[in-house]
Amino acid sequence: MKTLIKNGTLVTASETFQADLLLADGRIALIGAGLSADGAQEVDAAGHYVLPGAIDVHTHLELPFGGTVSSDDFYSGHKAAAFGGTTFHIDFAMQAKGERLQQAVERWNKKAADKAVIDYGYHLGITDLNEAILNEIPEMGRAGIPSLKLFMAYKNNLQVDDTTLFRTMLKAAEHGLLVMVHAENGDAIDVLIQQARAAGHLTPEWHALTRPDWCEGEATGRAVALAAVAGAPLYVVHVTCAKAVEAIALGRAKGARVMGETCVQYFHFSVDNLRQPDGAKFVCSPPVRTAADQAALWEAVRNGSLQHISTDHCPFLFDGTRPIMYEGRPFQIPGKELGAGDFSKIPNGLPVIEDRMPILWSYGVGQGRISLNQLVALGCTNPAKIFGLYPQKGTLAVGSDADVVIWDPHKQKTWGVNASHQRTDYNLFEGWEITGLPVKVFRRGELLVDGDRWLGQAGTGKWTPRATHAPVL
Ligand code: URP
Ligand code: ZN
Ligand code: ZN
Repeated sequence: MKTLIKNGTLVTASETFQADLLLADGRIALIGAGLSADGAQEVDAAGHYVLPGAIDVHTHLELPFGGTVSSDDFYSGHKAAAFGGTTFHIDFAMQAKGERLQQAVERWNKKAADKAVIDYGYHLGITDLNEAILNEIPEMGRAGIPSLKLFMAYKNNLQVDDTTLFRTMLKAAEHGLLVMVHAENGDAIDVLIQQARAAGHLTPEWHALTRPDWCEGEATGRAVALAAVAGAPLYVVHVTCAKAVEAIALGRAKGARVMGETCVQYFHFSVDNLRQPDGAKFVCSPPVRTAADQAALWEAVRNGSLQHISTDHCPFLFDGTRPIMYEGRPFQIPGKELGAGDFSKIPNGLPVIEDRMPILWSYGVGQGRISLNQLVALGCTNPAKIFGLYPQKGTLAVGSDADVVIWDPHKQKTWGVNASHQRTDYNLFEGWEITGLPVKVFRRGELLVDGDRWLGQAGTGKWTPRATHAPVL
């Protein structure tokens, strides 16, 4: 199957130029002026931008968490991702206690296989380390899973101690894997949560007040220091605050091989949102913070202290006592209401996978905070490089997978749950005005989204192996 995209303006991480693009057999076959191709279906992209399919390296589809399960699975999450211009994501295959890493991968394969539409990979979430697991780490790298995630928070659940973190880093350094951390001091946070509950402070605002930025800054600095000692590359997920940015920047300045991401929600929401009557909608960890932190995050993505903007997509229903309709069928699962009356029981996580690129387009590029090339670097190219996928994905180059988005810079939409494909009952950006949206989305040359039409087929997305020894940007 061949598609010739004519007259578009191509955008990469470093260039913006007029060219045609020929997609053939799932790859980008040619890029150039005035192309023609026998038998190709022609698409006129005049007046539109042509971008690489976006990559989101931080998602939690169908994740058991907080007494329920995140409400998007590998079909609904992929459909939503594609409508937002994302054609590849990396989910976290979480090791259960006592489980081999390979077993976690097999469990995630069962979730994904018949449902996937966009392409995907896994990071391995390590919760229970011993000699056998340490020895499995190099095998995982060789099998195409070169990134390991550890939680420094969620005490008595996912949290690991520093011995586990450091031993994992040493092994990762030896075999070219990347260590990722959720950096918050889970011990201190646990004490603060117990104190708040004992004092009767139970509203969603207390979710943020019991997870102060110092706890994130401290854990980030600790992870940076341990990675420097181990000689391991480190990637800090969902950075939310100036103190964590500073810890990463300091580590980089001192020669540590440290990188990080923030997520689009942390640019736009603050503890004030948690004070609203529907504050539970904004509960995620680390929490949304302050306007000063938002400014620090914008600066960090501009100056290269942070290299990717992901989503940490982990949606829950706001009111899981009521079914919603999804593709003509009722869908119901417990959600944020589990924490009514006690902030510590609100499932942590937000729906963002579809919102990310349109919001970044309108409120990042559109408001002059980042350039179009920075958007492509932060949303597409850097994550491909950091996570061992480049140049197969994340760019527009001959030989790369034909993951391509045609973007109409003038298309307008009032954003919100009714316009969204995320399988939940609310949208963080309800009522926000968007100018600039994907109008055609190709995955390996196949059209998944055509305007408002969904053409994706469950089970066609491919698990994609990634390389070890990826660069540190
Ligand atoms: O609140 C969040 N972020 N939920 C998902 C799990 C995690 O910590 O990434
Ligand atoms: Zn996390
Ligand atoms: Zn996460």
